[in-house]
Amino acid sequence: MTQADAHPFHLLLGTCDYPEHVPQDRPPVYARMQRDLGLSFVRLAEFAWSRLEPLPGTFEWGWLDDAVEAYHAEGLRVVLCTPTPTPPAWLIRAHPEILAFDDQGRVREFGSRRHYDFASPVFREHSRRITRAIAERYGQHPAVAGWQTDNEFGCHATSRSYGGASAARFPEWLRAKYGTLDALNAAWGNVFWSMEYTDWEQVRPPILTVTEVNPSHVLDYNRFASDMIREFQAEQVELLRELSPGRFVTHNFMIFESGFDHYDVARGLDFVTWDNYPTGMLELFAPPGIGEDLRTRYARTGHPDLVGFNHDLYRGLLSGGERLGRDGAGTPNGPWVMEQQCGQVNWAPYNPMPASGAVALWTAQAWAHGADVVSYFRWRAATMAQEVMHSGLLRHDETPDRGFAEVAALDQTAFPVGPVPARVALLHDYESLWIYDQQPHAQGLNYWTQTVTYYMALRRLGIDVDVIHADADLSGYAVVVAPAITLVSAGRAARWTEAVNAGAQLVCGPRTAFRTPGGETWPDGQFGPLSELVGARLLQYDSLRPTLRQTVSGADDLSGTFGASTWAESYRLNGAQALAHYQGGPLDGQAAVIRRGNVTVIGAHSDTLIGAVLEGVLGAAGVPVLPVPEGVRVSRRAGQLLVQNWNPEAVDWNGTTLPPVSFVVRPDDAGQPLEGEQDA
Ligand code: GAL
Repeated sequence: MTQADAHPFHLLLGTCDYPEHVPQDRPPVYARMQRDLGLSFVRLAEFAWSRLEPLPGTFEWGWLDDAVEAYHAEGLRVVLCTPTPTPPAWLIRAHPEILAFDDQGRVREFGSRRHYDFASPVFREHSRRITRAIAERYGQHPAVAGWQTDNEFGCHATSRSYGGASAARFPEWLRAKYGTLDALNAAWGNVFWSMEYTDWEQVRPPILTVTEVNPSHVLDYNRFASDMIREFQAEQVELLRELSPGRFVTHNFMIFESGFDHYDVARGLDFVTWDNYPTGMLELFAPPGIGEDLRTRYARTGHPDLVGFNHDLYRGLLSGGERLGRDGAGTPNGPWVMEQQCGQVNWAPYNPMPASGAVALWTAQAWAHGADVVSYFRWRAATMAQEVMHSGLLRHDETPDRGFAEVAALDQTAFPVGPVPARVALLHDYESLWIYDQQPHAQGLNYWTQTVTYYMALRRLGIDVDVIHADADLSGYAVVVAPAITLVSAGRAARWTEAVNAGAQLVCGPRTAFRTPGGETWPDGQFGPLSELVGARLLQYDSLRPTLRQTVSGADDLSGTFGASTWAESYRLNGAQALAHYQGGPLDGQAAVIRRGNVTVIGAHSDTLIGAVLEGVLGAAGVPVLPVPEGVRVSRRAGQLLVQNWNPEAVDWNGTTLPPVSFVVRPDDAGQPLEGEQDA
């Protein structure tokens, strides 16, 4: 009996292993240990091209055949990968046109990984060739549960190549989109600074310009590059479907990766997986609101909301989370964490050792946020090359490391699979991200910061959140939050209006509906097609340097005074009412927070203001809030409530003492307020 059979309706565990890195007698030993540890899945071969095809057309399958049999013998199910992130030296030297170019126009050389341009026709051909070969060999093997395409598209800033094959393909893509140069010139506003083109071949990637590049040009280049990734993967998926029927196909997406439209690229996969490295994430991606004190507090666990956000984001890539839970056959078809940190990472500026209990806490959180499988990276610490400083479940010498003991102690039966009962949707859209970050207008303001600030405010109120696409189906949500959806088409405005008319509360952040899909502003200004629903227009916006603050003072339902930083915008009312005004400064007396019916807009950047407004809106929507102390978080799944303490010290809360870095799972008495839960 396999582990997967032993736990048909609970979280399953796995690991990422590298038989090509070790002598051939090791996989049978590892497989036995993995089974004894309670693992169900092992992922193999994503970087193994040079060992699978050491010379052009010469395949050596023996080592992988043996490894697959060894895992199979112990009842582990294998996730195989297409090894395309690492084209071998013989291929690159024969076809240097495969290599990508960076944003300084330099070739990105062979010698690490991800050294290819998604648009390269030569590479596409070899990608299909190696995919076909590995899928023909293993596609029907009983141990093979499914496939991962490539590895972490976009990692190391590889979503876009700014020369070579991509530069050659871009004009063709534009031509297909616009048909005529007049249409292109109009869409990009090229009359500004005489940037008009008279021949498709005049258009280049948007780099190395004297001063800032046209944001509409960037927006389309990003769309183009994203399309190349989608096409690249679709070619692999088609072959895997043909040659490996009945197996899943997925991809492992990456923390806060912004280089391509993940919704587009995920379409056609069976489910989404992502790679979760909480401590590195905190070091590299913490928004300014998470200052030095909090970075220190969470240095050994990562920040709960950065991790939670990524779980919720990736859970929502396919059909707003519909695929959660097991299908009838007990096959995990929800999202997975394909790579879960289980010790130190090696790639952040600082790489602290995780706290005792962190690996178990991360696993529990992953489950509560919808994961059906958590697979640890990696089995044994690498003894060679770039990642020798990175931990595995085993140390270099094959003895169990700290994470191993935490995995061994997990009780999988505490983690039943099932839906995450979110009543709040947080809207996200990569195109808004691209245009937002192209012209931030205030240093420190960017799309993720803005979005995560709202997410954190919701989590501090104990709310479960679905992060979904800005055009997704909104029915079923009591509250819809759009923190940074700056690009709003007429269709999008119509969908939001429909949700509001059906009773949902809508909360928008600043710069909502500032842009057209082309990247320009609406000719009638912000809020463009949403103006009627919002009942207001933009009046003024202010970019606040760190030494400038703006005060916002609330009225009626929103009492209190709030300090705003970074960004403040005000509105002319045309049906809406002001819930708060600016006090002092050039915006003195102007509306800062406005409401019309179920629609609220928050114009200023302020954690406390956002928290207060959201709490009021949740109350109006009948969604109970459960305010939690710093570092304590609650998440719900499948009728259970997970209470987590991410603090390095114990916390007394809700009648329980939560030890440092720990969690408890207990039945979620839906409808029964917990002690401290307020029917807001
Ligand atoms: C991931 C990657 C792995 C490994 C890991 C180290 O981004 O997919 O191959 O490099 O990081 O943390």
